[in-house]
Amino acid sequence: MKRGGLFDQLIRTYALILLITMMILSAMLYQLMQSYFYNETENVLLDRGREINLILNDYQNKVISSDVLTYELQSIDRSTNTRIWVVDTRGVIFTETGPIGERFGGIRLTEGEIKNVLNGQTVVKRGYFGGRFKMPMLTVGIPITTEKGITGAIFMHSPIRSITQTMMGVFHLVLFSAIISVITAAVLIYFASRRISIPLVQMGRAATDISSGNFDIQLDESRNDEIGELAHALNLMARDLGNLENMRSSFVANVSHELRSPLTSIRGYITGILDGTIPGEDREKYLNVALQESKRLTELINDLLDLTQIQSGQQPLNMTEFDINEVIRITVIKLEYRLNGKGIDFIPRFENDTLAVYADKARIEQVVYNLMDNAVKYSAQGCSIWVRTFKNKGKAYISVKDNGSIIKQEDLQHVFERFYKGDKARTDTSSGLGLSIVKSIIDQHGESIDVRSKEGDGTEFVFTLKAI
Ligand SMILES: Nc1ncnc2c1ncn2[C@@H]1O[C@H](COP(=O)(O)OP(=O)(O)OP(=O)(O)O)[C@@H](O)[C@H]1O
Ligand SMILES: [Mg+2]
Repeated sequence: MKRGGLFDQLIRTYALILLITMMILSAMLYQLMQSYFYNETENVLLDRGREINLILNDYQNKVISSDVLTYELQSIDRSTNTRIWVVDTRGVIFTETGPIGERFGGIRLTEGEIKNVLNGQTVVKRGYFGGRFKMPMLTVGIPITTEKGITGAIFMHSPIRSITQTMMGVFHLVLFSAIISVITAAVLIYFASRRISIPLVQMGRAATDISSGNFDIQLDESRNDEIGELAHALNLMARDLGNLENMRSSFVANVSHELRSPLTSIRGYITGILDGTIPGEDREKYLNVALQESKRLTELINDLLDLTQIQSGQQPLNMTEFDINEVIRITVIKLEYRLNGKGIDFIPRFENDTLAVYADKARIEQVVYNLMDNAVKYSAQGCSIWVRTFKNKGKAYISVKDNGSIIKQEDLQHVFERFYKGDKARTDTSSGLGLSIVKSIIDQHGESIDVRSKEGDGTEFVFTLKAI
């Protein structure tokens, strides 16, 4: 696994979160336990204090002897690990318990230490009790109350170290569980990060492949998460880029091919004329043919320029209102010579005399021309062409139909592609750009175009425009 990679980052983040959590938890636990322990010890000491008070009453009433008193106090000390001092009203310790080395008998406590207790208050203190102890103590001082009033004070000291030790034990427990947790997390994160990093590495490789021109990649899309989505997106991108690349190379090949054939024939005629292969009387005829070819070349280049311009969206549409029926009538006039030459019947079927649309007029003229040009071109002598316009739900529908030759079912999906030519068109001067220009213009308008072709019925193109 890579250094500084996904695993490293995840485990570091996790460890940091754990550390912060542990610190907060420990601090809170410490607080909680401390107050709990202090309260508990305080309560125990207060209970013992009351007990001792009774014993002292007995002692002062001479019910028990001084030996019994000492014995009783020492047994309390042993059972609760508490140093007990009994102090008279002057503050002098007259009875005490505790190890021999820690005896304070006869010592007089300071005014400040006993004043409040002798006034009847219960006092709780933490610390070394005026430096008298070597370890911190929790000290509880209570007054000795008898029928005669307050006759002294009882001080009970319980070492705090036992509390600290318990707390250390808990800290060790927390630390231990944190270590276990980090180890478990490391194992889990290792597998989780592998599940993420392996596909990421694969995608990285795929992206490198794509950038070096290999679009043939297939990433696993089966995962139901963002990684699956990303893989799907990359697959799509590779496929689209591959298609684009194919289109680009076939476009270049097609253009070169289309330009080469007229150029070759023009060169042939001119060479023939120059070297005298074409006799003098035929020269004019062949020069005319060369002129025709060069015109065709210009047309082809114009078509190509149009197409790239429309498809790149460089030229915005010049939207105006106009009558589409009028555009059709003018196109028929342009094609009249060829219609008459082929004896083709033009049959207009306009729902109304005019049909106002909102579109780029020059472009739509080109659409209508290209469609009607095809209808004439691919219809035999004596066929008919129907052009129908009508309005429906805010759209203008324009249908150009002929009963000439048919487009094969399997070719229908290709007719709008650049340089696509049917069998008949292959040999003549067609370039196969007409319908792709039509489609681009209609697409640019955000409208649609459909084609239908059926034996015995003919071929029909229908496109829509925004009606006014
Ligand atoms: N009305 C139609 N009837 C039968 N076939 C058609 C018709 N219109 C188009 N086609 C077929 O679709 C092909 C593509 O048409 P398109 O107009 O794009 O190119 P073209 O007519 O061959 O060349 P260009 O229009 O660039 O001179 C044609 O070659 C032809 O085979
Ligand atoms: Mg055409």
